[in-house]
Amino acid sequence: MSNKNSGSELKTPTHLAVTMDGNGRWAKLRGMARTAGHKAGTQALRKLVEYCISYEIKYLTIFSFSSENWSRPKDEVNFILRLMRHYVISDLEKLNKNNVKIKVIGERDTLDKTILELIENAETVTKNNTGLELIIAFNYGGRGEIASAFKKIAQNIQNGDVSINDIDEDMISNSLYLPNIPDPDLILRTSGEIRFSNFLLWQSAYSELMFIDDLWPDFNEKTFIKVLQ
Ligand code: IPE
Ligand code: MG
Repeated sequence: MSNKNSGSELKTPTHLAVTMDGNGRWAKLRGMARTAGHKAGTQALRKLVEYCISYEIKYLTIFSFSSENWSRPKDEVNFILRLMRHYVISDLEKLNKNNVKIKVIGERDTLDKTILELIENAETVTKNNTGLELIIAFNYGGRGEIASAFKKIAQNIQNGDVSINDIDEDMISNSLYLPNIPDPDLILRTSGEIRFSNFLLWQSAYSELMFIDDLWPDFNEKTFIKVLQ
């Protein structure tokens, strides 16, 4: 892969967030099953992580599975879950060696025990790493995140730790799934869809937004550089 200093001026974000969209359409164009698109999408994710490390991006948040994705056909949901489990198991060692710190945001209470253990293990194994922070949005929804922040704050009020007048923007930010992470400076969505789809609703207030037509499995270094430029 090319050197990060090659080519014209690149504006490297501190925190890049990506909605990886278009797996199904990528497969359909090739007369393949949607699952083949998800598989190819995982390869594109590996590349994205590699580019972020190489270009010294500090935080990468990826929308891997939304709280709404459960409504897809059962077979597809199961395939995506298996694929993600496989990704974490097979890539954890390499990610750890590359100094990547993994964090997962989303609703955990309703998750299957095996998935939960996998998430907790990935976070524990990589918790002291100091390189790229890979934030995986799983069973994630922005409104759900804000609702859970309200619950935490209400609980603190009920406990008498804070009062209603203490509620401000910082308190809400600090009550989200991951406090102490700078808001994304750039949010990218592939496949030509121009929607937020409940991604990082609170954190995106000042983010630059980019929508590109490329389908997620086609994502490559050329696209990555184009985005940064
Ligand atoms: C994104 O691709 C992957 C996930 C949401 C898990 P899609 O599955 O949404 O692909 P399209 O939008 O149908 O092409
Ligand atoms: Mg889609």
